[in-house]
Amino acid sequence: MRFSTLFATLAVVATGASAANFSTESISTAVSLTAQNHYGAPIPPWEVGHYPGWYYGQGTPPQGITCILEGLFCELLELFFPFLGFQCPKPPPPHQPPPPPEYSQTFYNLTCAAQDDSYQTYGLVDTVADCLAMCDSVSGCTFFNTYHDVNGKDGSTQLTCALFQECLAASSADNCGGQTQPDGSVDYITNSDGYCKKKATA
Ligand SMILES: *[C@@H]1O[C@H](CO)[C@@H](O)[C@H](O)[C@H]1NC(C)=O
Ligand SMILES: *[C@@H]1O[C@H](CO)[C@@H](O)[C@H](O)[C@H]1NC(C)=O
Repeated sequence: MRFSTLFATLAVVATGASAANFSTESISTAVSLTAQNHYGAPIPPWEVGHYPGWYYGQGTPPQGITCILEGLFCELLELFFPFLGFQCPKPPPPHQPPPPPEYSQTFYNLTCAAQDDSYQTYGLVDTVADCLAMCDSVSGCTFFNTYHDVNGKDGSTQLTCALFQECLAASSADNCGGQTQPDGSVDYITNSDGYCKKKATA
């Protein structure tokens, strides 16, 4: 699609949506969510300079991260921009369920996170169920890893949610933190869980 056509379509979405107003900023963030740029997180979490591409959850998005995955806006994107290849995560059931049978847990409560070339994207979530919903939303996702990346003194309760195309075992969990943060502290990882899906998300 030519850029001008895309722009015109965006203008329709921006002005024609009756229920809500979306800033140009959030629209441009949203259209930059493609598989090619790892859905906004081009630097994997084990490399210096990484930042989450998105936040999916009920809380306040962390500073600097647009919560573009909230219901209506996401649905508009899915409707108008199917070529972005992004599906809106389905909201998880209110009570955190055990992983559904299509997932099996490959590791539990490690202090290191998965590192693999099949990295797709990462963002922040509130619960393991939210991360599962994200894996179910991104084409090709076969494995997700949730963990607390503890850095600085005011550690967030949000979980890092990293998605991969290959099913990974505990032996792939070799990112054990140790990156020096801007405030001089060194980050470390807790509660790292890995879940493998029987069949990649279509
Ligand atoms: C959208 O923006 C217009 C102009 O700023 C405002 O009048 C209108 O109430 C807004 N609509 C919603 C749903 O926020
Ligand atoms: C997880 O591991 C930590 C040590 O790394 C331990 O203190 C904690 O009790 C473990 N939690 C569970 C639920 O097993």
